[in-house]
Amino acid sequence: MLRGKKIALRARHEDDIPVLRAELYDDVVNGSRAESRPWRPVSPSSKDPRLVVDDTEQAHVPFSVVELDGGTLVGTATLWGIDNHNRSAHIGLGLLPASRGRGYGTDVVAVLCHYGFVVRGLHRLQIETLSDNAAMLRSAERNGFVREGVLRSSAWVMGEFLDQVLLGLLVQDWSAESKA
Ligand SMILES: CC(C)(COP(=O)(O)OP(=O)(O)OC[C@H]1O[C@@H](n2cnc3c(N)ncnc32)[C@H](O)[C@@H]1OP(=O)(O)O)[C@@H](O)C(=O)NCCC(=O)NCCS
Repeated sequence: MLRGKKIALRARHEDDIPVLRAELYDDVVNGSRAESRPWRPVSPSSKDPRLVVDDTEQAHVPFSVVELDGGTLVGTATLWGIDNHNRSAHIGLGLLPASRGRGYGTDVVAVLCHYGFVVRGLHRLQIETLSDNAAMLRSAERNGFVREGVLRSSAWVMGEFLDQVLLGLLVQDWSAESKA
């Protein structure tokens, strides 16, 4: 388990799956904004890789996010697109609606940076998010990510094209303050 100041990242448990499906992936608006593919319903028996972990998948490490105090499930976090040649990866996260706006997102990014830079020895981490996702942009920037560009009209979301912001963080720019 990886511990931050408010949350911890642990392995996916069987009990997490129905909660994540109902509160994150059944939400059409959240799903359409967070995924770069069309929303579709997830059936209870589905082996959807966002829910069911394939331990043989080396380039993709999914975590469940839990509160440090008490261990309540509050969301998901993923280090994905791990490229061991260029030593880079992408960060993704999604918190249950009731757990947003409490500083957990900022802490999840900090712990994923620790995992990416310290545990995995990566050199560069990257985040892509919609340009109107103020909470995600702020969570990233609080951890030292810088805006590297705008991908204009790159995301089709609920009937319109939206811009995405590309943010990056290099290990040498990762501040001691942010280290989980
Ligand atoms: C994006 C997300 C992970 C951020 O996590 P969070 O726990 O809500 O964010 P935090 O509480 O750590 O807040 C981070 C900053 O954003 C600000 N913020 C939070 N919610 C905000 C909102 N709705 N509008 C504007 N600013 C907001 C906070 O004030 C804080 O700023 P500060 O550092 O200056 O105090 C979370 O909101 C979420 O899961 N959203 C839905 C899924 C999603 O968008 N995932 C990202 C896809 S790329």
